[in-house]
Amino acid sequence: MTIWSDLGFSQSPYDTKSLPPTAIGERLLVGRERHIKRLINRLASSSSHVTIEGQAGVGKTSLITIANYRMKRNSDKARAPILLPIEVPFQIATRENVKLLEATVYRAIAEGFIRYRDELQAWGYDAPKVADVNKWMNSPIVKTLSGGASVLGFSVSAARSESVNTSLAFAEAGLSNTVRNWMSECFDPPGCGYFVCVLDNLELLVSSTSARQALEEIRDTILAEPGLRWVICGARGVVRTAAASPRLQGRLCHPLEVEPLSMDDAIRALEARINEFSTGGAPPVGAIGFQYLYEILKCNLRNTLQKCEDFSFWLHDEGILGESDMEHAALLQSWLTLLSDEYAGNPGISSAGWRLLDDMVGNEGSCDFEDHDLFGFSGPEEMKRYAAELERQNLVEISSGDTGGDSAVVAPNGWLARFSRSGYQIPRI
Ligand SMILES: Nc1ncnc2c1ncn2[C@@H]1O[C@H](COP(=O)(O)OP(=O)(O)O)[C@@H](O)[C@H]1O
Ligand SMILES: [Mg+2]
Repeated sequence: MTIWSDLGFSQSPYDTKSLPPTAIGERLLVGRERHIKRLINRLASSSSHVTIEGQAGVGKTSLITIANYRMKRNSDKARAPILLPIEVPFQIATRENVKLLEATVYRAIAEGFIRYRDELQAWGYDAPKVADVNKWMNSPIVKTLSGGASVLGFSVSAARSESVNTSLAFAEAGLSNTVRNWMSECFDPPGCGYFVCVLDNLELLVSSTSARQALEEIRDTILAEPGLRWVICGARGVVRTAAASPRLQGRLCHPLEVEPLSMDDAIRALEARINEFSTGGAPPVGAIGFQYLYEILKCNLRNTLQKCEDFSFWLHDEGILGESDMEHAALLQSWLTLLSDEYAGNPGISSAGWRLLDDMVGNEGSCDFEDHDLFGFSGPEEMKRYAAELERQNLVEISSGDTGGDSAVVAPNGWLARFSRSGYQIPRI
């Protein structure tokens, strides 16, 4: 029994996870045909890797996942090169993880050889013997590495020195060479096929500088591997800056920009979810309420879905079931008013802090500490102090720029606080 069955749904229509690589995921993806086509064209046609840039929560991972799902379905020898996606994305959260990444990637490729073995054989590609791959996977160092991988993906966030040593041992034992040889035997002549790997959430490295350095570090290893095509994805300009690095010139395509879904598409995305999961209930947040939230939250799809879910929990907690769409919309409005008043009444923010938030809103939701005089601060340090005050209360997020110039963007709760401060005016988008 879940709250969703009480509300007349088979599961949450507001799930904030990225879309799954399934037929349902494909049905739920809206408005990204052009991006998928471009992504696949680049993967198949260029020797540089693909980069994707777009705000957090805009739909980057979902679009890559569905592109991969289609690539896998459409793989056939007649359309060489074959593109074989490694489904789980890689992540690097700290610079130490870069050392581990290589070993993790080769392990994923070995698994990929097992997963795609039948297809590869059917198309006449020379895949390694399963027994050989298993032997490789069971070598002590590879087994230790597998122990360090998280369930959700290949990201290894705990930079344990033991893992780093293991990865050094991995390099010394030449374990990557075995996988490299398998790839060159399989994809012969070179270019007739690739494994497609995704390096997601590059902004976890926080600054553009560390993201760029991380990519430069893998430039001559996994980015230079002839059997691999990479999709490198990040937010806050991190990928754009890295792609412009002279040392990465010719290795990375110009970024594909993922913009927020238009209001019509966002509503279509909501309706697709309601169609998919409704068992007859009126949705807690229907098109009217969704539009309202999407505007207040500046077209951030993930944050909008999150608030829809929060509101659904509230409805259920209050025992408000079986109301109509219109009644839900009115309830959503009062719930939002209360919630945003709570954020706007945060006693941890000084009046200069609030002024900065208001000015950031007026500046498209962001600010650069170099522009301190425009914002009425005597220097970047003073401005940063007030931004940090807002960040401690989750109203903005600060990030480090490439040349030491830091910046901040308004966070979802910041937009809600602003909604209350502006007398509940919906921002124009
Ligand atoms: N094109 C789309 N159509 C429908 N839902 C989408 C679309 N893109 C993203 N979503 C949904 O929006 C949320 C954020 O998407 P995600 O791909 O995780 O964003 P990002 O990787 O850019 O942070 C997820 O719940 C996802 O299911
Ligand atoms: Mg993502």
